[in-house]
Amino acid sequence: MSDDVTLDRLTNHALYAAEMAAIAASALVGRGNKIAADQAAVDAMRSGLNAMAMKGRIVIGEGERDEAPMLYIGEEVGTGEGPEIDIALDPLEGTNLTAKGMANALAVLAMAPRGGLLHAPDTYMDKIAVGGGLPEDIVDLDASPADNIEAVARAKGVASSQVIACVLDRERHKNIVDSIRSTGARVNFITDGDVAGVINAADPEGAADIYIGRGGAPEGVLAAAALRCLGGQMQGRLHFRNDDERERAKRANITDLDRKYNLGELVSKDCLFIATGVTDGEMVSGVTDLGSCTETQTLLLSSATGLRRVITTLHSDQRRM
Ligand code: FBP
Repeated sequence: MSDDVTLDRLTNHALYAAEMAAIAASALVGRGNKIAADQAAVDAMRSGLNAMAMKGRIVIGEGERDEAPMLYIGEEVGTGEGPEIDIALDPLEGTNLTAKGMANALAVLAMAPRGGLLHAPDTYMDKIAVGGGLPEDIVDLDASPADNIEAVARAKGVASSQVIACVLDRERHKNIVDSIRSTGARVNFITDGDVAGVINAADPEGAADIYIGRGGAPEGVLAAAALRCLGGQMQGRLHFRNDDERERAKRANITDLDRKYNLGELVSKDCLFIATGVTDGEMVSGVTDLGSCTETQTLLLSSATGLRRVITTLHSDQRRM
């Protein structure tokens, strides 16, 4: 069976797993408890995945086995019957956003046939991403942010001052921000949630032209899965803060710790990308209690078919509490 048919057959169940995670987390929106919100999403997504007819393996999950009891890296999920699938997930991307009742929290997962997703350790990753339709290798992590902005401006035929860069609002990004602004370009800060940040930069209708900065490596692989479906370019390089993190990389069989990964290396096979809104965001609305039922909105992308669909679902059996 071809990869796209295999993934296609799993779509409805994977969609349901993401929707259940979003509904579970939504009960904790604005309640100031990010750990409880994350746990609720993890529990719900895990039971959804375990109902799927597949030999699933978590390659990007909640952490290593000793620190994450559920959906840890290497955990096998699914019924054990069916295709061998690798899964990257973040049941709650934006735990702080959820706890504080802020926009853009998502329940996210990506699936590919075995070996299709980089086994990134739970460390940081330097990331740069742009949308489709630009010359190949237009951006480069080894070039300065200013040079990357100018390259994007030239390729789009606009002045640098018309380029908008999306950057996570962190102290560590001060030099990046200074370099971007030295070209006259604007910076759109996000407080959290760089999966959505990267997608926004790659989307022609999104609010930014380029994403630059350091965020979670797991989120880097998830964003790459979305970009493989949407079109666009991305590079990522793992960043280690200490020996423990270097050890994590070795356990994930990464030997070249300085390697710069391009999109095709972050996600090397056709994939599905699914993101359900927990709180309202630019891509999808959050979970809405309609009284008699609960509404979810999900972005579903497939790289094999080019499918890009926003799905609104009414759940009459699931009430947000
Ligand atoms: P949560 O852990 O609250 O879900 O935060 C997610 C996130 O904002 C990612 O989108 C991003 O890659 C990462 O955290 C950035 O990490 P840090 O907050 O340590 O800068």
